[in-house]
Amino acid sequence: MIVYDNRGVPQTLTSGNQLERIEKSLVGMLGMEYDPSSFFSRTSEEFYCLALVEIECINLISSMERNQLLKANDIINLYKTKDAIQQMSDRDLLLFEGIESWINRKYEEAHDKFSEILLSYPKDILTIFATHMLEFHMGWTRQMKDTISKVLSYWDKKDNLYGYLKGIESFCLEENGMYEECFGAAQEALSINKKDIYAIHSICHYFYETGQYNEGAKWMEDNIEDWKDNKYMRIHVWWHYALFKLYNLDFGKLTEVYKSEIRRKNDPLGMEDLDAASLLWRVKLLDRDQDFDEKELLENWEQYTENTFYCFNDLHALLVYFATKEEEKANNLIEKSINQNCSKYYRGIITSTFEGLKFFSEGKYKEAYTALENILKSSSALGGSNAQRDVFEMTAIEAAVRAGDVSKANYLINNGRCFKHDSPLKRHYVNKILNNEKKGVSI
Ligand SMILES: [Fe+2]
Repeated sequence: MIVYDNRGVPQTLTSGNQLERIEKSLVGMLGMEYDPSSFFSRTSEEFYCLALVEIECINLISSMERNQLLKANDIINLYKTKDAIQQMSDRDLLLFEGIESWINRKYEEAHDKFSEILLSYPKDILTIFATHMLEFHMGWTRQMKDTISKVLSYWDKKDNLYGYLKGIESFCLEENGMYEECFGAAQEALSINKKDIYAIHSICHYFYETGQYNEGAKWMEDNIEDWKDNKYMRIHVWWHYALFKLYNLDFGKLTEVYKSEIRRKNDPLGMEDLDAASLLWRVKLLDRDQDFDEKELLENWEQYTENTFYCFNDLHALLVYFATKEEEKANNLIEKSINQNCSKYYRGIITSTFEGLKFFSEGKYKEAYTALENILKSSSALGGSNAQRDVFEMTAIEAAVRAGDVSKANYLINNGRCFKHDSPLKRHYVNKILNNEKKGVSI
């Protein structure tokens, strides 16, 4: 049967009391505090509760991890049986088609399906979340903001889950350079739920983008009880805290956080190592990685080449392979990733990024700079956030420094993103260049 939820979205259920569990599952997914599927099990009685199945699938595919996408694929195939399809509403059909397109890497097609749903149901928070996650993973930064602003006008502050929408909006505004608006939207979300992790995370980005590294760390410390144990975003939020420490050259605290929090995973075998890889690489660029156990991190990426699905994850696997001199693994992954994961449109950008990292690991710094400098203006195509992608700009700057090309290093420091604000880290780079200029030696 189809029951409309309190936001006017048709939900296909097998009994009316499932609406409450749907709401709790949505809160789990949006708040990232617990597994949304913990509120249901697909018993024969619930087999046709498509609303719960859809939440489960969106949650799985949003991870962009191959194993999770395969699980979602199995579920979709199960429900493609004729009698299950007969139960589906038009929204269910579009959502299932969108999920299937996503699994098959037809991302534009998935986006079209989700957008069609939102035209009829702009308060469909599940589809909003799916669209947002797809846009985020694809690096469709502008679209991310447009989608949220289109649907927001239909929402009322009193609507259930409105706060989560503001949390998502705050991140979209931040990624589009609207920092004060981001802060305002995040504050509104936090006034509804102080543990809204998406809003907390946006505020971390806000402090990073506005160069308030001390203030950001202080804000995080003052509000630590609200985020330190969040199940699915905890590691990434700790990574933001470590970034503030990096910009202040506080390697003692950074290393402590890396070991005690960023390496404290929910599942030792789980794919929760992206932030660790990114932090390790940044520290390695500064030659301050002596206290980091690279081999331990490599263990988590050992089998990754078999599970490659998404370029942004591949890039982080490569950082670990290059950091640990696993050249064969790196070359295998590059070949597989370019053939399998890259759309034709983005292939040039991704290939150039792979080459830049490879040249850097081989000590060919001039070539590394050239390859990476080429992609910086269009690096959103790699996916992830601006702050995450800054690792490639930092690598380009370090490549220029090591190549002894002072003017190129200076150019990126003065015109890029990483060092648009003053910080001890920026001063470290500027002094390094100046000192070597005075000595008249190649850096
Ligand atoms: Fe982030």
